[in-house]
Amino acid sequence: MGEGTEYKIYPDTLGEPYRTRRFKNGEDLYRSLGIGREDKASRLGQFAKNFQFFGAPVGLIFAIDRNMEPGQWADLGMYMQSVMLLAQEHGLSTCPQEAWALWHKTVREFTNLPEELMVFAGMSMGFADSEHPINLWRSDRAPATEFLSILR
Ligand SMILES: Cc1cc2nc3c(=O)[nH]c(=O)nc-3n(C[C@H](O)[C@H](O)[C@H](O)COP(=O)(O)O)c2cc1C
Repeated sequence: MGEGTEYKIYPDTLGEPYRTRRFKNGEDLYRSLGIGREDKASRLGQFAKNFQFFGAPVGLIFAIDRNMEPGQWADLGMYMQSVMLLAQEHGLSTCPQEAWALWHKTVREFTNLPEELMVFAGMSMGFADSEHPINLWRSDRAPATEFLSILR
């Protein structure tokens, strides 16, 4: 679990439906790699690949001014999304990685990050291996009826 995080990646208690969705997503991911539920070493091995940027040639770190509030964290998320869409347009693939927040001290030291900035996430960028099993599945999508309210 690295150096701990400066912000909570998830709430202490993740309520429904998010808990079930998160669990299923993890199960699907490890199943695609042929890693069983009990195989903790392989699961950790896959998690550790975060810190090699999954073999990508480019690694990005996104940080936010500590004074910022949830509204501005949303802005940063949108900014990251724009980076990912632009990358896609240029034939590159990405993987956003909050896992990097676990190593915020090391990241700060390595990148000479000013104290007023907090590490939010990293991002791998490169050419996706479209044949790799991890890239051959898509995470579930909830049907629109689950999250849209239509008021008439
Ligand atoms: C903000 C954010 C942080 C993420 N952090 C990680 C991470 O640290 N490690 C990881 O393997 N996946 C992480 N993911 C999920 C992958 O990037 C995910 O495979 C990617 O979002 C594509 O799946 P999707 O279609 O469900 O979004 C993160 C996603 C987001 C949006």
